[in-house]
Order: sequence, then C-alpha cells, then structure tokens
Amino acid sequence: MDNIILVGYMGAGKSTVARELRIRTGMTAIDTDYEIERIEGRKIKEIFATDGEEAFRKMEENFLERLVIMNFHGIISTGGGMPIREENRFFMHQLGQVLYLKACAETIYERIAEDESRPLLAGLTDRDAKIARIREMLEERESFYTKAADEIIPTDGMSPVQIAEEILLYMSYQ
Ligand code: S3P
Repeated sequence: MDNIILVGYMGAGKSTVARELRIRTGMTAIDTDYEIERIEGRKIKEIFATDGEEAFRKMEENFLERLVIMNFHGIISTGGGMPIREENRFFMHQLGQVLYLKACAETIYERIAEDESRPLLAGLTDRDAKIARIREMLEERESFYTKAADEIIPTDGMSPVQIAEEILLYMSYQ
C-alpha cells in the first residue's frame, strides 16, 4: 500500500488514527512532533519558547525532506501546522497519499481541552475563548489543509477506529 500522511488541526486525531492504521496494516507509523522532540531532545513547548515558531517550522521541513531522501515507507502523522509551508506540501505529495482529517472547532476543543502541551493555545483558559481561537485558526488554515490533501476525511462524531476503517477503504481504491 502507498504511504499515508495525515494532516489536520491539533486534536483532529492524527496520531491516534495513525496508531489504529499501524495495528491494521502492520506498516510503520511515525509522528513528526514526536520525532522532532526526539531529535532535539526537548519538548515542542520548549522549542517554541526558546527558538520561536519559525525555527520549529524549519525543523518540520527538514524532517520531511529527510523522509523523502531516505525513501520512508509507512504512515506519517504530522503537526497541525505542517501544510502551511509550500515546501512541506510538496514533500508530503512526494511521500504518498495526503489525507486531511477534518473536524469542527467544538470537536477539537473536546479532544484537547485538558491538554497543556499545545503552545499555540496556551494562556487561554475560558472555553469560549479557546473555541473562538480554534475557529479562527481553522479558517486561516483551511485552504492550506485542502491544498495539501488528496482526500478530505470528515471526523466529527467518529471514533479513531471508524476513521481508520474509512481511510483503509479509501486506500483500497487507490
Ligand atoms: C501545531 C500543532 C502541534 C505541534 C505544534 C504546532 C500547530 O501538533 O506541531 O504545537 O501549529 O497546529 P499536533 O497537531 O500534533 O497537536
């Protein structure tokens, strides 16, 4: 099977779905956030705080390029900002089928409300403020996600298992 690259906003379920796909296909699954943290030896929150977002985006790009060069085979879950850069969209297309896990702001809020590891939502405690921020970012990013994607997978109201099944069905037609 072709490689699967999962893109979408934070909390869209990319890493959980990647795990489900790994179980069902036996393919290797990697997560770009996890790999960057491993290479850097520090958490993303720390990278943002010390080096800034731009430096992190460059690390994402370098990592994708490395996967292309090494001819990686498997499933890749990506950080929510990965499709913003044109270079990254190009590398992802070279790597395989890019699937956008689409979710609305409320769904995303429910999935990440308790998680403090996301620097871009840090400092917002109020539910409405967080949902408004998520919605704003989703609007800003929607065109990048759709531009990056070979296929859009709607995920509202779906479990990671159901999403994985949907993806495998799509892949079987490729
Ligand atoms: C980001 C999403 C995060 C991580 C970083 C920035 C973003 O990944 O890469 O905090 O810009 O949306 P997840 O989507 O895995 O949370």
